[in-house]
Amino acid sequence: MKIIAFMGQKGGTGKTTLAVHTAVAAGQDGHRVVLIDTDPQQSATFWGDNRQVETPVVATATPGQLAEVLAAAEADGMTLAVVDSAPHSSPNASEVARFADFIIIPTRASAFDLAAAESTVRIVKAANKPFGFVLNAIDQKVAESGEALEFLKSEYGGAVANYRVGNRIAFARSIATGQGATEFDASEGRARGEIKLLWKWIKEHL
Ligand SMILES: Nc1ncnc2c1ncn2[C@@H]1O[C@H](COP(=O)(O)OP(=O)(O)OP(=O)(O)O)[C@@H](O)[C@H]1O
Ligand SMILES: [Mg+2]
Repeated sequence: MKIIAFMGQKGGTGKTTLAVHTAVAAGQDGHRVVLIDTDPQQSATFWGDNRQVETPVVATATPGQLAEVLAAAEADGMTLAVVDSAPHSSPNASEVARFADFIIIPTRASAFDLAAAESTVRIVKAANKPFGFVLNAIDQKVAESGEALEFLKSEYGGAVANYRVGNRIAFARSIATGQGATEFDASEGRARGEIKLLWKWIKEHL
């Protein structure tokens, strides 16, 4: 079983949003997916509670329970665990990073957000785990996102997804309906396309 984790010490960067859509996309790609919510805010669990479909399996765990929950998921035949994590949680973040095969750090494009990624990078580097950035909630017309990509590539040493996830109401709406963008967005929809690209990029790192 492969384990990916969405991490970031800053709040609201899109960890939960991208975790749930990725979990759905990976399931559509043939994985048996468990989505593990380690955030006491339980946003991913909320999404799961609103979902009409049994997959992905959604589990709630404290970071301290993670080892046990991951072992149970593997014993159940799961092939991918997607771990959502809490902001502002340095000791717990280290606990999550320890288990991950690849860590995804979503970030918005502002200078504040880019600088704030540093504390997360320190944690994942201390865990000696592969990690990468994805720019999230980007207004496509804003030129700064190009500069943000360049900054990420030169500054922190991780992988950088070579595209941006747009600022789209579809992503926000689906949290309340328990759906994934690759399920409800029209076949050529932009949200769907971006999540497919995100999953493809993650797979390249597994
Ligand atoms: N690509 C996007 N387009 C539009 N809205 C987005 C996008 N990504 C996230 N959001 C919205 O931004 C807010 C924060 O997103 P989300 O909860 O996924 O972030 P988070 O990193 O998990 O936050 P926290 O640190 O509190 O756990 C939510 O209201 C969500 O709907
Ligand atoms: Mg969250």
